[in-house]
Amino acid sequence: VGVRIRPVSPAELSTHNTLNDAWLAIRGRVYNITHYLPYHPGGPEELMRGAGMDATQLFDKVHPWVNYDSLLAKCLVGPLRFDLPDAE
Ligand code: HEM
Repeated sequence: VGVRIRPVSPAELSTHNTLNDAWLAIRGRVYNITHYLPYHPGGPEELMRGAGMDATQLFDKVHPWVNYDSLLAKCLVGPLRFDLPDAE
């Protein structure tokens, strides 16, 4: 029951970069954006530009006013952590 929140390494984040399995990070929080892709007002292709990476700068360049954290509340995977081993 409930969402499992767990830390994610940059290496793991980088593997989630396809339309069927897309994650991105903004300000240290990793989101699974797969199910949001069809609803993104800028279209899935634009959103995919940030997939698999820390998309903070890209996001802020386009629309810093958008409340991503509430829109993606249910898509939160966990914090981006640089001190994790690369395995997994
Ligand atoms: C709109 C790109 C991430 C939510 C847009 C538009 C672009 C864009 C180009 C303008 C569409 C138009 O007006 O025709 C991107 C890129 C992203 C990204 C490159 C990569 C990081 C996100 C995320 C969210 C989001 C993570 C939130 C979950 C929205 C919303 C709008 C929008 C709500 C409409 C904003 C408004 O009209 O004020 N996006 N987006 N986007 N995007 Fe994104």
